[in-house]
Amino acid sequence: MVDPLPRFPQGFLFGCSTAAYQIEGAVHEDGRGPSIWDTFAHTPGRTLGGDTGDVACDHYHRFGEDVALLADLGVGAYRFSIAWPRVQPTGSGGPDAAGLGFYDRLVDALLERGIVPLPTLYHWDLPQALEDRGGWLDRDTAARLGDYAGHVAARLGDRVRRWITLNEPVVHMAQGYAYGTHAPGRSLLLDALPVAHHQLLGHGLAVQALRAAGAQEVMLTNNCTPVWADGDDPTPAAVYDAFHNRLFNDPVLLGSYPDFLAAALDPVVHDGDLATIRTPIDALGVNYYNPTLVGAAAPDAPLPFELRPIEGYPTTAFGWPVVPQGLTELLTGLRDTYGDALPPVYITENGCSTTEGTDDRFRIDYLDAHLRAVHAAIAAGVDVRGYFVWSLLDNFEWAEGYSQRFGLVHVDFATLRRTPRDSYHWLRSVIGS
Ligand code: FCB
Repeated sequence: MVDPLPRFPQGFLFGCSTAAYQIEGAVHEDGRGPSIWDTFAHTPGRTLGGDTGDVACDHYHRFGEDVALLADLGVGAYRFSIAWPRVQPTGSGGPDAAGLGFYDRLVDALLERGIVPLPTLYHWDLPQALEDRGGWLDRDTAARLGDYAGHVAARLGDRVRRWITLNEPVVHMAQGYAYGTHAPGRSLLLDALPVAHHQLLGHGLAVQALRAAGAQEVMLTNNCTPVWADGDDPTPAAVYDAFHNRLFNDPVLLGSYPDFLAAALDPVVHDGDLATIRTPIDALGVNYYNPTLVGAAAPDAPLPFELRPIEGYPTTAFGWPVVPQGLTELLTGLRDTYGDALPPVYITENGCSTTEGTDDRFRIDYLDAHLRAVHAAIAAGVDVRGYFVWSLLDNFEWAEGYSQRFGLVHVDFATLRRTPRDSYHWLRSVIGS
């Protein structure tokens, strides 16, 4: 018999998160243009088993069933992402009315069930045409994002009040442009740094466009990790913390880059950019999966830190260590670092992957422990307003294809049949009580 979960404050929002390319499929429908993920997934050797998001969960056609699953789960909100290449197939110009129509229908279906829609404008699926012009290495992509935000808000802003601009710009920079393990598959290492600035600039412009359209609550979702030092020298961990966390939180919350990164970014930062990036947000979205252990790099290594495995904890199917107290550490750390500059926080992603056939007790224990960790942070005075599980459905897990199953709902990818797992029923009773 496990202890019942502690009570969350009145109004605390429970939700689920997904992302367009991971679930929608229908990649050629209603005028959608190709994104960098279509190109990447169709390039041999880039994803496990050559998996692509061509069909994924076929959510584009089955969203009604998925909204019914959300309603039955009892969540107050649903975080999904809008596919930029459905709205602007080549990344610029007038919006595609049919592509936007899908999100119209989705939003209406959510509202009919009393579920708050929380769209993310950009979850990594850049229109390929923009990548062909330099992608996020090109400053103009920031302006394109602002323009796109305006089109989306003009169509949905009468019903959608809360928005997320970007998902995890750090992961997009690192995996997409520094290591080349995600789309667009570029391996620029430290030369990927302008990708951080241009995404953040795009974020600022998007905030302004959303506000102009009457948005009530706008946030940025960052992937944040508590950084643990391996060894006596704290410097490599501090450097990693600057790259992973502070590079994306400091300019938005404080209006400046961490010192040594400011020098490196100087050539791409124009007058006024930091003011745009610091356009006030109403909340910070935090995605948490695990802490990061960092030690000194070898003298001739290309990066000034070395990531090391964390031993002594259970691991998910992905091999990620399960460290719930890391979430409390992260949240109290954000409060200590930013003080009054930290707006309310939502956990916009947290969850674990399992492989086919695993006992779902693993996910229940994972979610239970992380919810307790959030509660401990609230008890310690951090203003956390909500918690979103990654993810509603098993889905296309980027370079890992369909091998990592993150869903509260199992998806049979041969038949696309959805079957709620034990953790779905568990969460339902948690929310219900
Ligand atoms: C996050 C991504 C999300 C999903 C989870 C497992 O970094 O935002 O799309 O892949 O990891």
